[in-house]
Amino acid sequence: MDKKIHIAVIGCGRVSGHHVRAINKNPHLKLAAISDLSVKRMDEICGVDKVPHYQNYHTMLENHPEIDAVAIITPSGMHFEHAFDVVNIYKKHVIIEKPIVMTLKQGEILGEAAIKNSVQVFPVHQYRFNRCVQRIRKAILENELGRIQLATVRMRWCRPQSYYDRDPWRGTFALDGGCCTNQGIHHLDLLRYLNGDIKRINCMMRTFGSNIEVEDTVIAIAEFENGALGNIEITTAARPHDFESSLSIVGSKGLAMLGGSFTDKLIEFSPRPSDAIDFSDNFEDAYGLGHENIYMGVLNAILYDEKPAVEFLDAMNTMKLLHAMYVSAEKNTWVNLDEGLSSLQLGRQDNTLAQPYRVTKIKA
Ligand SMILES: NC(=O)c1ccc[n+]([C@@H]2O[C@H](COP(=O)([O-])OP(=O)(O)OC[C@H]3O[C@@H](n4cnc5c(N)ncnc54)[C@H](O)[C@@H]3O)[C@@H](O)[C@H]2O)c1
Repeated sequence: MDKKIHIAVIGCGRVSGHHVRAINKNPHLKLAAISDLSVKRMDEICGVDKVPHYQNYHTMLENHPEIDAVAIITPSGMHFEHAFDVVNIYKKHVIIEKPIVMTLKQGEILGEAAIKNSVQVFPVHQYRFNRCVQRIRKAILENELGRIQLATVRMRWCRPQSYYDRDPWRGTFALDGGCCTNQGIHHLDLLRYLNGDIKRINCMMRTFGSNIEVEDTVIAIAEFENGALGNIEITTAARPHDFESSLSIVGSKGLAMLGGSFTDKLIEFSPRPSDAIDFSDNFEDAYGLGHENIYMGVLNAILYDEKPAVEFLDAMNTMKLLHAMYVSAEKNTWVNLDEGLSSLQLGRQDNTLAQPYRVTKIKA
């Protein structure tokens, strides 16, 4: 295959290195150009002498018509605006970091724009591709665990005040969300990926460990569409470091338990205990290795019309779950997911916070 898919990156912050490495590792992908407000950040990620770089992404897209897809790796609350520009003005595919958007309405508008412009939206939920997760997914699909009765998530990570103080967007309802939206979204997505959609949920949220407006500790109980019960505990107020990122599934025929600090280990798998060794990794950090799978999916979807690694509407259903959790905590009540309710707080408009991250076309 001679054709290469040209990828551009908007946002060269902490997680962008994982995107750049995944792109560079794939012989069928080419990093066409990068954009960040900060030249220093672009230099740190790629070396500005090695790849065309732009502080204004409009200029980047105007100068590089060969770009096929653009990775949006900016502050979460800016994903919608940045992705919408790329889809609507330049008609390019977009790969969007989690959370893909902040509100259900934004998802609806972006989805419609993508259809109108014949492009795709590729969400990044890379935890799905951890080897231990793939093993359990196969076990569930092939009925190795029997009827699923209980699914439990426990995330005990540490995000101290210094983490939130790093950038103005962190720890805000407008541009970030709390432990549920920023970190726990991986685990909420895995719950749905492994055991299907949740029917109703009851949730409590608190802020214990930092001076921020968003939640850093969440507990919830849930009922899945398939009748199983769910138990969710997510916190970034654990100290002094990350301890646990686990998910367990109790089925009528057996038990599976994923764990480690980053859901990278198969701790127990009763149908075949030796798989616990064969399907465990040792990730260095919370990002894992799944970005490579996401980009493989982008390539196959664009070139061969295959289903993306994670489908947009599927990721929007994880957003629906997230909003149901906030609404439950806001109203102190059970929430049925089929009502499609939106949080009053998550993704609320804050132009003062957003303004520094907005760029406009430079007039000729
Ligand atoms: N998948 C994962 O495991 C994972 C992990 C960490 C972060 N993320 C997500 O990635 C996103 C970025 O997180 P981060 O930690 O890298 O943040 P960051 O603040 O380190 O990086 C964001 C970058 O975007 C740049 N930016 C902002 N507006 C821009 C614009 N208009 N044009 C060009 N660049 C612009 C900023 O200058 C900054 O360098 C967030 O949505 C976050 O939730 C995902």
